[in-house]
Amino acid sequence: MLAMGSSAWVEIILFSLAALCSCFATEVTYDANALIINGERRLIFSGSIHYPRSTVEMWPDIIQKARDGGLDAIESYVFWDRHEPVRREYDFSGNLDFIKFFKLVQEAGLYAILRIGPYVCAEWNYGGFPLWLHNMPGIELRTDNSVYKNEMQIFTTKIVDMVKEANLFASQGGPIILAQIENEYGNIMWGYGDAGKSYIKWCAQMAVAQNIGVPWIMCQQHDAPQPMINTCNGYYCDNFQPNNPKSPKMFTENWIGWFQKWGERVPHRSAEDSAFSVARFFQNGGVLNNYYMYHGGTNFGRIAGGPYITTSYDYDAPLDEYGNLNQPKWGHLKQLHAAIKLGEKILTNGTRSDKYLGNAVTLTTYTGDGGARFCFLSNTNSNADASVNLKQDGKYFLPAWSVTILDGCTKEVFNTAKVNSQTSVMVKKSDDPSVKLTWAWAPERKKDTLRGKGNVDANQLLEQKELTLDASDYLWYMTSVDINDTSIWSNATLCVDTMGHTLHTYVNRRYAGYKFSQWGSKFTYEKQVSLKQGTNIIALLSATVGLPNYGTGFDKIKTGIAGGPVQLIGKNNVTMDLSTNLWSYKIGLNGERKRLYDLQPQISVSWHANSSYPISKPMTWYKADFEAPYGTNPVVVDLQGLGKGHAWVNGHSIGRYWPSWITASNGCSDTCDYRGKYVTEKCNTNCGNPSQRWYHVPRSFLNKDKNTLVLFEETGGNPQNVSFQTVTTGTVCALVYEGALLELSCQGGQVISQIQFASFGNPKGKCGSFEQGSWEAIDSRSVIEAACIGRSSCEFLVTKEAFSVAGANNGPARLAVQATC
Ligand code: GAL
Repeated sequence: MLAMGSSAWVEIILFSLAALCSCFATEVTYDANALIINGERRLIFSGSIHYPRSTVEMWPDIIQKARDGGLDAIESYVFWDRHEPVRREYDFSGNLDFIKFFKLVQEAGLYAILRIGPYVCAEWNYGGFPLWLHNMPGIELRTDNSVYKNEMQIFTTKIVDMVKEANLFASQGGPIILAQIENEYGNIMWGYGDAGKSYIKWCAQMAVAQNIGVPWIMCQQHDAPQPMINTCNGYYCDNFQPNNPKSPKMFTENWIGWFQKWGERVPHRSAEDSAFSVARFFQNGGVLNNYYMYHGGTNFGRIAGGPYITTSYDYDAPLDEYGNLNQPKWGHLKQLHAAIKLGEKILTNGTRSDKYLGNAVTLTTYTGDGGARFCFLSNTNSNADASVNLKQDGKYFLPAWSVTILDGCTKEVFNTAKVNSQTSVMVKKSDDPSVKLTWAWAPERKKDTLRGKGNVDANQLLEQKELTLDASDYLWYMTSVDINDTSIWSNATLCVDTMGHTLHTYVNRRYAGYKFSQWGSKFTYEKQVSLKQGTNIIALLSATVGLPNYGTGFDKIKTGIAGGPVQLIGKNNVTMDLSTNLWSYKIGLNGERKRLYDLQPQISVSWHANSSYPISKPMTWYKADFEAPYGTNPVVVDLQGLGKGHAWVNGHSIGRYWPSWITASNGCSDTCDYRGKYVTEKCNTNCGNPSQRWYHVPRSFLNKDKNTLVLFEETGGNPQNVSFQTVTTGTVCALVYEGALLELSCQGGQVISQIQFASFGNPKGKCGSFEQGSWEAIDSRSVIEAACIGRSSCEFLVTKEAFSVAGANNGPARLAVQATC
């Protein structure tokens, strides 16, 4: 045997490993009609799931449900502010462990799309920028500025290096097939002039130099420098064309719903219109569709952007905030994915021809090698249905605003407006509704601030985030005023001009009042106050509710009482401007400093227990112990009765709350007409209710035995009706066309206990109000009962043969079912 030195062995081993890695490597290329993954021409369905908007424990289930829903890929941004909260101090722990997230995506057999940004928008605080960036000398964000570019490059490189280290790029055998730099810069580029143009070129060069081995994308960047692929975001992208004819047409953000703001109604986008948008996109040569969001999740802590993004980021996504299936959307899109995938080979290889049939009806035929065909038949008319005769290829009924997918151009396999999937009516349940929590309370200590004592002084009114670096929502502005002539000043008006978002005022240690900005922008606070002879102390507490995340110069939008003016107006309009007084500042609340929300606060805190707690009292901390609700269904806490503040469970922030802000009483409707272009005002719910009443408490935050809820109540409220509930399917319904599959399922171990309604025939109405039509199979109910009762889910092929139907010529039938879980 030939003797070899140890270094030679090492070389051989390394060489073999390298060979192994490259044989696992996945090659990702593209042309105008396909993403080409290891030589296979693919169409891709993808969905956005932002890892910090759920918990590590939730990730596997959400990812699995995405896979079951027919997705090929999962997309996420990375969130710079969370990963580098202090310059060069990084955090990738817990639900910030994006490497773990993408590994789980890979383990589930899915691809991934990495949107580095690092500006992300995303209704995320300050668009994902860490606040320390804002205060760097000479910096200008998102433009050709060397200080900013240097930081952006360092962070981007750090992320890319971590991904490479974990072998997560497809070029290394990992799941990541595409990466994105910047985000929708094209939308706001005009505001940056030539510097914007050179910045975007620099972004492209910087990205390419990262050498990741998979294509880079830039969304909404009509002038994307090559080889960047520009992609489309919106509700519809069927008319979009990338700026390079060789680039695939990709829809990076198909807004499947919309986000909610405090004070606003809850937006919904129908399953029918969502499917219509996707089908139109693939009809017109689309290659990749990414749902924004597939799971929206929760804005824990203070990650919500602003101003005024709610804690729930449900988005009406196919998976709801808690990770439940949002039905029928999830199921309808699943069926759509399967239908389009039937044509994948022909769509990615074939030639396309469009035939306009009049009245907004278009037939698109893709013809592959050997003549195999795949068709889309669309009716973009927003109110007229169409009957289309394709002669030897069949006759089709095409509801308004719908697309039919025709396998082989002769067989209807899907119509975007014909929903066969189950509708789930979600319910909130209490284990024992009579349980009342026992509250302890503590006032927010203000001994120092009401006496004007802060820890920073300045002869001006400072911009809030510049001083706080957003370490807290709260900043105290305090000054004193010497009054000699009480005949002018004893009854004065305090006038504060603030950039928002909320303001509490105290004069001589007394609470004077509160106001918040209706739209999250500049407002004026005015209040009669009484001043005394001698020194008077004015203490103003300003709070932000999420920093802006979108628009040209969003980062420069001021917050707090920046510059004021703050004035006192005395008798005969004599005005005293306090703006250049000596102001003392204090960042944050004393309760935050003492960590009252922690189970083991560092400094001892005296909670008042065994006494009645104050109600409607601003600046109050409340605490109660509770038992975790039984079972595995997601948990929420109902905060009705409270004002505005922040909530924690066992020391974990569950986000800001503001149930006292009631939404407009008009603009909602029970019925949602899916037809016609979607706008966010359409199909709203929750009129005249608290903008958000229930707050997600992830199961992993809970202990089996004792748990503690802590609330900081800023504006005053009453916690007596606070209760913990679980969210699950209550009623499930389906209205299934003959020939399609009835699929019903409950969740959390529940079974179908009762069939409330079943009619195979021509039933009318919708879930909750189904009625028998002019004919039905007499055994409708018993057939469905036999198939479904006692089961957690059931499947049933809906055919005439399955029922006893009297007479042969009853026309096309449908099955309506309503059941209880
Ligand atoms: C887009 C942006 C996303 C998100 C979306 C609205 O403009 O790229 O990050 O903010 O709007 O939900």
